[in-house]
Amino acid sequence: MTELEQLVRGVPDPVVREFLLMVDDSVVAVLPYALAIAARLGVADACAPDGSSPEELAATVGFGAEPLASLLNALTGAGFFARDQRGRFTPTELGGVLKADSPVSMRATLSNLDSFRSWLQAADAAAARQPLPAAYGETFFVDNETRPTTEAGFNTRMKERAKRLYSGLADLPVWDETHTVMDIGGGIGTVMSMILRAHPQLNGVLFDRRSVIETADQDSPLVPVRDRCTLVAGDFFAELPGGADTHFLGSVLHDWDDEKAADILRASVRALAPGGRVLICELVVPETDEPHPARWSDLGMLVLLGGRERSLSEFDKLFAGVGLTRSRVFPVGESSFSVIEAVPSGQAPRHV
Ligand SMILES: C[S@@+](CC[C@H](N)C(=O)[O-])C[C@H]1O[C@@H](n2cnc3c(N)ncnc32)[C@H](O)[C@@H]1O
Repeated sequence: MTELEQLVRGVPDPVVREFLLMVDDSVVAVLPYALAIAARLGVADACAPDGSSPEELAATVGFGAEPLASLLNALTGAGFFARDQRGRFTPTELGGVLKADSPVSMRATLSNLDSFRSWLQAADAAAARQPLPAAYGETFFVDNETRPTTEAGFNTRMKERAKRLYSGLADLPVWDETHTVMDIGGGIGTVMSMILRAHPQLNGVLFDRRSVIETADQDSPLVPVRDRCTLVAGDFFAELPGGADTHFLGSVLHDWDDEKAADILRASVRALAPGGRVLICELVVPETDEPHPARWSDLGMLVLLGGRERSLSEFDKLFAGVGLTRSRVFPVGESSFSVIEAVPSGQAPRHV
């Protein structure tokens, strides 16, 4: 074992361990980009059930056979494809992440290079001692309206992520204490669909920007529960519809700085039914130094959008400024997410 390997073995965060052992000019960026290229080309979907040669795949996906062979060789060594004795490739179970129709699909997530671009810009800015540019900043979502392919990719990424990370949400005790839930910035309705399917007594309001709501209206995981869900388009900085006694904000506040996050919460407090609650689902930054993905996500949000993740005391400060008080915090299944419940200050939490 090398001296570096010995040192790295003691590092608690697996992300750091992998990175430090792999880091080398030529290989450091390989895996995410190789997966992005494979996902964008759709090679896993293009493989025939009994396997395809690089030449056959090249003809199907419209890309060179030689680079495809290199790509498939690397991804076979990494466990995403298997090669038979005739040199034909098929995706493995793990390779299902590269397929559009697999239950473990992450194809839209792996295809996306926005974060990589924003980090390149940030690294260049830092080298030039310039302020971090927050690559997409406040206009990210508005700009998406004029980039339908980007917006569709983003919505699919959110759907893939919600299925992977939010499955424990439907088990929270709060749904038994709720009549109508409004998912604010709820995308195309993946989370709303999970909650309404698990709780037949609940009604829902899905709130998002007009272009996202139009997509949700046509093609959404909400179809089986559509009769219990109203779709509303609007701007969460301006006004939210009234009537719901539980407001849900999943991975919304982390897109914004404290000032903007407070504006969203103020709109929520104004619209909340009497006796209601706000639920915030985020990666909460621990107050101690143990490894947690929230710290990576905090940096990611800063560089991509100028947003941030928050610790519980930072949430409390935000709540105090908008007339909310934290009441409970729930873990979300096995994921690293938490749901923070807050109620209008002075209102006793309904469960007490
Ligand atoms: C990071 S996504 C989270 C989606 C979903 N809640 C989830 O966790 O999967 C943020 C959502 O906020 C929506 N959004 C951004 N700006 C908005 C605005 N001004 N008004 C309403 N929704 C907005 C976006 O369209 C997007 O669906």
